Amino acid sequence: MALGAVSEMGYLAMRTRAYEESLQLATEVLGLRLTRDSGDRAYLAAADRHHELVYVKGDADGIDHIGLVAESAESLEVIRKKVEAGRFRIITRSPFEEAIGEGFAFVGPENYVFHIYTGMAGHRHGPASFGPDRYGHINIHPQDARAMKDFLVEFLGFKVSDVIGQNFAYFLRCNADHHGVAIIKGRGSLHHHAWQTQSIADLGRLGDRLFALGRRLIWGPVRHGAGHNIAAYYVEPNGTVVELYTDLEQIHDELRPPIEWSADDRTWFNRWGVYNGEDFRSHGAFPVELA
Ligand SMILES: [Fe+2]
Repeated sequence: MALGAVSEMGYLAMRTRAYEESLQLATEVLGLRLTRDSGDRAYLAAADRHHELVYVKGDADGIDHIGLVAESAESLEVIRKKVEAGRFRIITRSPFEEAIGEGFAFVGPENYVFHIYTGMAGHRHGPASFGPDRYGHINIHPQDARAMKDFLVEFLGFKVSDVIGQNFAYFLRCNADHHGVAIIKGRGSLHHHAWQTQSIADLGRLGDRLFALGRRLIWGPVRHGAGHNIAAYYVEPNGTVVELYTDLEQIHDELRPPIEWSADDRTWFNRWGVYNGEDFRSHGAFPVELA
């Protein structure tokens, strides 16, 4: 169910200094399939599409761009015209990655590059033996949370699902998933990317696979209040956090009013414990420097 001009979270592209290690974690721990590796650019997916995650080998860690799927060719055109009218800098009027039909990319708020597209190809790599169903959401920590929220609502058609405090955090959806983009006021970094699975047992197995490589979860499993998902997290080499989650709230009522949480009510963040999350929030990666 599409709500607006953007209908799906498409993929996340990141730069990493630890290319091989990033690929190992994505395939052996998270359970993604490597659909193409050119040696300095790797494409990975959980679902049957060419990519949901891209790693670019680089000499700096950071967020390369955020890929979002337009609901239709008409929606793509509507977004492009709005972005031009809003005087955002267009980087390319062609698809910004391979295996994509139509698209364009521009620099949005706080130097995040957005690639809006339609028509991604699939892949022929078959089912993975383990791993998530699909890419689900990102969580970003912009310096101006309200401005980022307004941008996603006005230019890309997202709807607000939950609000925490006064301009502190917003959870935004582009389809039935409670959030495709979560925004928490912060340092300007992208904190985590999240992947959907079916069972809380899968979150435990994620912890087991990390342990086998000498690593640990940094938080979870935990039950969030906002979004209702049960989630577990680990840090990857470029500084971003990876979330595996299940049981996310599905919103089928387009008119559901946003749930408002007091900033003092920490149960939006954590229903099962008292961990306050400040260490957790210290992770993340920033948009790469633009030429
Ligand atoms: Fe999340």
